[in-house]
Amino acid sequence: MSTNKPIYACMRSIGAYAPPKVLTNADLEKMVDTSDEWIVKRTGIRERRIADADTATSDLAVEAARDAISRAGIEKEEIDLVLCATVTPDYFNMPATACVISHKLGIKNVQAFDISAACSGFVYGLSIARAFVEAGIKRNVLLIGAEKFSSIVDYTDRSTCILFGDGAGAAIISATEDRDEGIVDIHASADGTYADFLMTPAPGSVHPASCEVIEQGLQYIKMKGNETFKLAVKTLTRDVREILLKNGIEADAIDHFVPHQANYRIIKAVGDALKLKEEQIILTVHKYGNTSAASIPMAINEIYEEGRLRYGDLMLLDTFGGGLTWASALLPFAGRN
Ligand code: COA
Repeated sequence: MSTNKPIYACMRSIGAYAPPKVLTNADLEKMVDTSDEWIVKRTGIRERRIADADTATSDLAVEAARDAISRAGIEKEEIDLVLCATVTPDYFNMPATACVISHKLGIKNVQAFDISAACSGFVYGLSIARAFVEAGIKRNVLLIGAEKFSSIVDYTDRSTCILFGDGAGAAIISATEDRDEGIVDIHASADGTYADFLMTPAPGSVHPASCEVIEQGLQYIKMKGNETFKLAVKTLTRDVREILLKNGIEADAIDHFVPHQANYRIIKAVGDALKLKEEQIILTVHKYGNTSAASIPMAINEIYEEGRLRYGDLMLLDTFGGGLTWASALLPFAGRN
């Protein structure tokens, strides 16, 4: 590649992995005071996947990454940056899960670090990968979103335990000279005013690990669900409208709207605001629940494996999560089936 031509970052491949164990709404009915009817009506979720006790977030990530690497048609030696978006790392707080993943994949001597942006992690990671590639610093970034959310869920709290699942998704973000393959735009924002809407209070410097912390259950996710829901709909609707307007793209030009899979009602509200057709909206929330940073790449992988995602298809991604963070992205798929 000549150095004087502009370089663009493109999504060259996708891969995903969901652990085999299924936790259904009927299973949850036996654990907390809830019902399949309530969960389906309020969230659209029917089941989610749960990793075994001896499976770490990095193990889920490695499975997804292997598919992404082989589908990109590159050797692992060509990867020069490994990014892992996760809020359920193998270890709080070091080493980074990205380092563990690199080791398990046999990728040596590369820069590797984690991104903490909760459910927005994959799109945040996409913006970081793009910056490295378009600055000419890296050529092939392995970008992963992986979560073992079951490790921070309180299975006696009905307001959160019905929502989350485990899984991983991965993509290779590569340098290209073909502008048509390149990422069109990414918006990524945060507002710490609402930090307490979604949090795991411990362990951390505020509440280091202690018996008291465990007794109070501070290691589990706490969520102000209804407040988060309302803010998610308002923020995402505004954000996707802005990114389309800024880039002069009409909603009907989107081949696949791939939203973060938190709640069917949030997805529907944003889809309706854009007047999207049903076939444009990618839904996996019914089978995987909310897998946080993994949810978008898992959803992209779903349509890839179904043969619905073609080279050049325009995708609109949007996401919202703890921080609070949110992000949207417009990009064509630059992989081959
Ligand atoms: N089963 C049965 N009832 C439940 C329940 C469950 N699993 N969870 C909560 N309830 C009850 C509540 O206790 C409450 O009862 P009350 O009215 O007697 O107090 C009632 O249902 C309504 O609760 P509320 O929290 O207002 O419901 P909701 O319509 O907001 O739905 C969520 C709850 C969690 C599904 C929804 O708020 C949500 O999806 N939030 C956003 C999640 C999100 O986007 N996160 C960001 C990315 S991670």
